[in-house]
Amino acid sequence: MSAPRRLCAVAALPDGVTLIDAPGARLEETILLVRRGDRIAGFVNHCPHMGFALDWKAERIALDGGAYLRCIHHNAIFRATDGVCVSGPCPGESLTAVALDVMDGEVVLVDQGCGGQKWSSD
Ligand code: FES
Repeated sequence: MSAPRRLCAVAALPDGVTLIDAPGARLEETILLVRRGDRIAGFVNHCPHMGFALDWKAERIALDGGAYLRCIHHNAIFRATDGVCVSGPCPGESLTAVALDVMDGEVVLVDQGCGGQKWSSD
């Protein structure tokens, strides 16, 4: 287990979806931070249907104020609370959640493991 890695300041995170480059992540793998009030969830930007990024523009991913996330490729819809696909070509499959915490006003990645992906710059 590595030290928590800072992603962004909570105060800078708007409601809805924000795309964040994870420290040490490969260029094509970003994290979707989903904020709804005090709740912040994170998922790897990687659709379980065919493995593409959901999109590269956060405003095209968020539906219903961030309650749902949409993959632009074949229109899979995921619940933002748990990342489960509720409509589209991969029902029941899930986005890969990342473990987040808030420390000193910062959103941090607390787990170096991420669906088998090592999020590490070491
Ligand atoms: S790759 Fe996301 S719905 Fe097909």
